[in-house]
Amino acid sequence: MITLRSPAKLNLFLRILSKRADGYHELASLFQAITLFDTLAFSKADQDALTSEGIPVPLNRSNLIWKAVDLFRKKTGRIFALQVHVEKRIPLEAGLGGGSSNAATTLWGLNNLAGSPASPEELRSWASELGSDVAFFLSQGTAYCTGKGEEVAEVDVLPFSPEITVIKPHQGLSTPQVYAALKVDDLEAKDPKAALDSFLKGIPHYYNDLEEPAFTIDPSLKELKEKLLKHGFEAVVLAGSGSSFFCVGEAPKIPCDRFFSARAHFAHRSPDGWY
Ligand code: C5P
Repeated sequence: MITLRSPAKLNLFLRILSKRADGYHELASLFQAITLFDTLAFSKADQDALTSEGIPVPLNRSNLIWKAVDLFRKKTGRIFALQVHVEKRIPLEAGLGGGSSNAATTLWGLNNLAGSPASPEELRSWASELGSDVAFFLSQGTAYCTGKGEEVAEVDVLPFSPEITVIKPHQGLSTPQVYAALKVDDLEAKDPKAALDSFLKGIPHYYNDLEEPAFTIDPSLKELKEKLLKHGFEAVVLAGSGSSFFCVGEAPKIPCDRFFSARAHFAHRSPDGWY
């Protein structure tokens, strides 16, 4: 049996550059894994089975865990029945990449269980067939991602590690819906390379171009952001396509105790190890 943690991610900045002919958006974003983890346990079994505890998730073949298993089988020809148990702590429809992270963790776990038939590079190239941000989760935890998000360039560990509070209201947001509400022409032309340099020098400027479309779909999210800012955080930014926010810095107490909330820090892994 192999038990692995599966981290959430934040987009410390997320800049949308253009809409592509295939309907996806060209982006430039600094992705960072955080210490908000699901746990996945994999073992060989007599027949395929997926079980879960914690936050409810679909257990049928629509789960990205199964899609990752099917892809691994197709690519490697290694077919053995599998028992997977997931302890789900990362909220769904939150913009935290929980499903994508589970898919990447599954590719990694299965590869180990099968005796490492695939190289890390192969796993990364397969990952983008499962979703735009799956490949990021095979990085070491901090990466500058471009294209649809699947072009992953590792960057150094950032020279600061703030306290993060993740807050998610009850309602979630659908990623395609948020992208559909985005008006690319209205976006301010910020330079993502300058933003990256600034983060690497320890001068972070957090932002997310998906905030405006998310606030158009659900105006209560804008009110929540303003409320959270009043608690004295350094920054409050929508996580990915939402609906959760990440709040940077120390606050006297966790606000909004009616909502999901979790404290976290940046997470990293060593080149050969997992999270
Ligand atoms: O690739 P993934 O399945 O995670 O993307 C989900 C949806 O998010 C896409 O169908 C698309 O509507 C939107 N998306 C986008 N541009 C990206 C990534 C995702 O428009 N770079």
